[in-house]
Amino acid sequence: MLAAARNVQAWAFQHHETLETQPIGLTAEPSFPQMQSLRGPPEEAPTPFDEIFQEFRSNVEPWAYRTNHPRFLAFVPGAPSVPSMIGDWLTAAANFFAGVWLEGSGPAQVESTVLDWFRTWLGMPEGTSGVLTAGGSEANLIALVVAREQISFADRDRAIIYVAEQRHWSIDRAAKVMGIRRDRVRVVPVDDQFRLRGDVLQACIEPDRKAGFLPWAVVANAGATNTGTVDALDEIADVCNRESLWLHIDGAYGWAAVLTEDGKRELSGIERADSVTLDPHKWLAQTFDVGCVLVRNGKLLPETFATRPDYLQDVTPREDEINYADYGIALTRRFRALKIWLSVRMLGLDWFRQLVQHSCDLAQYAQAKLEQTEHFEILCPRRLSILCFRHMSPKSADVEAENIRLLEKLRETGRVFLSSTRLNGVFAIRMCFVNWRTTAADVDEIVELLAKLAENTREH
Ligand SMILES: Cc1ncc(COP(=O)(O)O)c(C=O)c1O
Repeated sequence: MLAAARNVQAWAFQHHETLETQPIGLTAEPSFPQMQSLRGPPEEAPTPFDEIFQEFRSNVEPWAYRTNHPRFLAFVPGAPSVPSMIGDWLTAAANFFAGVWLEGSGPAQVESTVLDWFRTWLGMPEGTSGVLTAGGSEANLIALVVAREQISFADRDRAIIYVAEQRHWSIDRAAKVMGIRRDRVRVVPVDDQFRLRGDVLQACIEPDRKAGFLPWAVVANAGATNTGTVDALDEIADVCNRESLWLHIDGAYGWAAVLTEDGKRELSGIERADSVTLDPHKWLAQTFDVGCVLVRNGKLLPETFATRPDYLQDVTPREDEINYADYGIALTRRFRALKIWLSVRMLGLDWFRQLVQHSCDLAQYAQAKLEQTEHFEILCPRRLSILCFRHMSPKSADVEAENIRLLEKLRETGRVFLSSTRLNGVFAIRMCFVNWRTTAADVDEIVELLAKLAENTREH
């Protein structure tokens, strides 16, 4: 077993050291022999590790994208620091139960400490509590369940939730899981910079009250996935105050920006939320998976989720003891806080501040490079560390088709992976910087490739 573990460790470091030179990713067809050989029932007899590892190397490893590759800028990349990986190994090795204080007081204390770091960074008051989750989707769901718990059963059918046009779809899925009717989810239009504004929100509320509905909650973005846009959080918080609405802020991607002065200014108002989603596995360089939700009135979490069946009577916490299983959906929980605690301390908080600044600087640099390159149009200027653009020459006959082809050609090089989105219906190419490995030279390479391929695409 020790030899097997050493092999995995050697693979991990070799994998990281050669990341730059590996193809960013390949997608297999289900009919490929490698995929077929992965199917089938397990053998009754044991198989030696070396044999299985060999299969991993030939049939699995090539067919997965390197989301931590310095030029993987699609979606929201996963780019963990090495200390986070080491912390994750420790979590798996110990397999401590992070659900109840009785069984895991050390893990619970570490989780409380990490949550308190996050609370302080965001500027939320004492009394705020939270819980680490599998990701932002689970965190959004937990927040909305807590929010709904604040209204009576009788009122629930007429309760309206207001969501920004640029919300993440996990909000819609949370509403679905909660059994909220689609027509009780009001999509509020955003301004020409893709921001949800207070006055537009306010204007949506009046008619609902008049029609006998119960305006109940608002979901705003602190870093929309599409564009990186931060909604007008202070204005929205004012409306929520005035109208007694629950304010949930989805900062899954953008939250870590509070670590820099500029980011703190941009996210001003986040500290006024009733609940916030923040994903360490996005911009805090953590391995998958770890998300987080913070709730301003922390007591509401156990009030919403704690249940004490007979077989768990032994784990009733005393005052000041926390059962994190009472704060969310999962009972059996990994010790996710360990990798955060370990990596933030090993690298020092300043490393994370620099990561945020570096990511924003790279996005700004990419924008400047594209602006200087003929025939590229910025569709949404850099917000936090996201940038949206497209290629558009005077000769373009079908701009969308040409951009789709350009993106495909870029991916085919194996050197860069970018994804696309739509902004007001317009096809846009998107870059998201969260990776500590990405450099200005990577941006140069990407823009040069884009320009070259665009020229070829135009000619054919
Ligand atoms: C703004 C936002 N909210 C929520 C999510 C969902 O988070 P997860 O993928 O961790 O479930 C994402 C994921 O990209 C996101 O960008």
